[in-house]
Amino acid sequence: MSTLNHQWFLASRPKALVTPDVLQLREPPLATLEEGQALARVKFLSIDPTMRIWMADIKQYMPPVQIGEVMRAFGVAEVTESRHPDFKRGDKVLGLTGLQEFVLITGKESRAFQKLPSIPFLSDSHFLGTLGVNGLTAYFGLLDVGKPQPGETLVVSAAGGATGSIAGQIGKIHGCCVIGIAGSDEKCNWVKNDLGFDAAINYKHADWKEQFAAATPQGVDINFENVGGEIMQVVLDRMNLHGRVVLCGLISGYTREDPALASFAQVLIKRLRIEGFIILDYGAKFTDAAKQLGMWKMAGKLKDKQTILKGFDRAPEAINMLFDGSSIGKLLVEL
Ligand SMILES: NC(=O)c1ccc[n+]([C@@H]2O[C@H](COP(=O)([O-])OP(=O)(O)OC[C@H]3O[C@@H](n4cnc5c(N)ncnc54)[C@H](OP(=O)(O)O)[C@@H]3O)[C@@H](O)[C@H]2O)c1
Repeated sequence: MSTLNHQWFLASRPKALVTPDVLQLREPPLATLEEGQALARVKFLSIDPTMRIWMADIKQYMPPVQIGEVMRAFGVAEVTESRHPDFKRGDKVLGLTGLQEFVLITGKESRAFQKLPSIPFLSDSHFLGTLGVNGLTAYFGLLDVGKPQPGETLVVSAAGGATGSIAGQIGKIHGCCVIGIAGSDEKCNWVKNDLGFDAAINYKHADWKEQFAAATPQGVDINFENVGGEIMQVVLDRMNLHGRVVLCGLISGYTREDPALASFAQVLIKRLRIEGFIILDYGAKFTDAAKQLGMWKMAGKLKDKQTILKGFDRAPEAINMLFDGSSIGKLLVEL
């Protein structure tokens, strides 16, 4: 077995996208295991927009990654050696592995790593997407904050992505008319024809605002907002009285400054309920929600796609793909 680890560490803070000076590689030796520790080899890394937020020295829901630290990331890993009572060789674990090939699980952190069950119709990588952060975010964001009612119109932005694609399908399960907004015809075709959305609008088409108005003749009751900026403004302008805006993410602003949003005046005029949420707030309910997501998946009510880049060295490139729309469904790096 290799005696070296490979790590992407934060070398400087990004100004826009992730450039070569931001994440750099190092190869520290693997630590010799002490009693109470386990070593796990990372199999899949989850590539999430929040990684760009974690790189920035701004006020946020977790401490920013410090210069010199291994870049924070969720991953699935397999235990290769263990002197820890709760883990044995071959166990698969899920948690904040970081952007590295091997993760050392110490007694203190072991509760942060969850053992993965082996379920025949699921691959390990599903626990990073549909049954992981993205599925849970869609589930709690839509059901707890959006409170969908049958017959209501739900709009989901970044609809062809990991979270949006699940949020829209949960909206269909709850009887909503679901309109997706996404940045390519491929994504629009997928969410409409395979996932059962009622309509999908490509915001890169010149007439997308007219198409969006035509697709929402009854206005919009719930906006599951993943993007912000102009897309959010257009959706807000079509909201109905007492609509709900589920503020899940504002990805259009993560790599640049965004102008103030005049359409926020609609919040006042229409008495909208806007609620931000962070998936970590729902930790105590994760297990029950994951069971429900798993049952929907088994019943064929939740479909998904993955974009998988092979090779540890491709992690920085993968992060940038979130911002140019070149991934579809859940974006992962396989080691
Ligand atoms: N609140 C929470 O706890 C929580 C948890 C997880 C994720 N989130 C948020 O959920 C959102 C989606 O995350 P995800 O992990 O599921 O990623 P994702 O949707 O799989 O990937 C991001 C997608 O966003 C779209 N996008 C990027 N820049 C854009 C821009 N300037 N304008 C319009 N669309 C843009 C791209 O799709 P197009 O091709 O459609 O442009 C891209 O593929 C993010 O805002 C993320 O921060 C929040």
